[in-house]
Amino acid sequence: MPNDIIILGIFVADTSYRADRQPRMGETILGNKFTLGPGGKGSNQAVAAAKSGGNVGIITKLGKDAFADMALGIWSDAGVTSLATQHDESYTGAAYIFVEESTGNNAIIVAPGIAATISSDDVQKHTADIATAKVFVTQLEQPIDAAMTGLQLARAAGVKTILNPAPVAEISDKMLSLCDYVTPNETEAEGLTGITVSTPQDAERAAKAILSRGAGAAIITLGENGALYHDGIDTLHVPAITAGPVIETTGAGDAFNGGFATALSQGMPALSAVKFANAAAAISVTRPGTAPAMPDRAEIDALVKIDANHAK
Ligand code: RIB
Ligand code: NA
Repeated sequence: MPNDIIILGIFVADTSYRADRQPRMGETILGNKFTLGPGGKGSNQAVAAAKSGGNVGIITKLGKDAFADMALGIWSDAGVTSLATQHDESYTGAAYIFVEESTGNNAIIVAPGIAATISSDDVQKHTADIATAKVFVTQLEQPIDAAMTGLQLARAAGVKTILNPAPVAEISDKMLSLCDYVTPNETEAEGLTGITVSTPQDAERAAKAILSRGAGAAIITLGENGALYHDGIDTLHVPAITAGPVIETTGAGDAFNGGFATALSQGMPALSAVKFANAAAAISVTRPGTAPAMPDRAEIDALVKIDANHAK
């Protein structure tokens, strides 16, 4: 059975260190807590999409090692279809994540391992998987040529395309023109437009600049300021929802993108899909970790409902 959502991206194991601050060069400090768990933006988004009720498959490359087993395990638990290939010439990647104890904010180094070799050809082998989907999603942790090919294949088949342009990279107008939705955070929006984004007003200007570079719509995620959607006609600012105390914000963008993909794949109008995604992100920050923090459908539906009643 074809998957409604196809995600091209990477899996890495998140090695997360909670500490009061980061060490300076040459310095050793003691941290408060270490955890090992599943991560990588593509994999996190796939898990978020599956848990929020989407039918999703992931295209990626894994090694043949313990971290690959972790990937296959979490996908099978979440109901993500693995379209991954396994290789022994390199390893499954890992990420160093520093989590600041007082805020739950993070700084990350990703070493993609074998996923750094995902090529255009690798993606082309999945032409049929992409063409039979409703929504295609990619990020920029694997090589940009592979992302470009995925977007081209999806666009050629009339499949809706979402580019989460993370981490920050040089992106051509040609690539943006293949995107129905581009979903940067503040830093990534600045990378795309040169506009410093700290308020919803800045985000609206940046969103317009992203559209002028060819994208169909832009959704800028703004952390504690929620998200800003603009498609050339409609503009919507959704404030962040509080679903509990903030424990860790890592992966909130992935919760948003995965939830958004599910909503779109089920025919939800874009503005409602943004609210659904915003609720998914809100719940994810109240839990530690990335993929393990993704909420299920009932939790998201309940929060969307509470928020709608609150707005009345
Ligand atoms: O978006 C969060 C993710 O970015 C983490 O899981 C980490 O692996 C990095 O890829
Ligand atoms: Na989290």
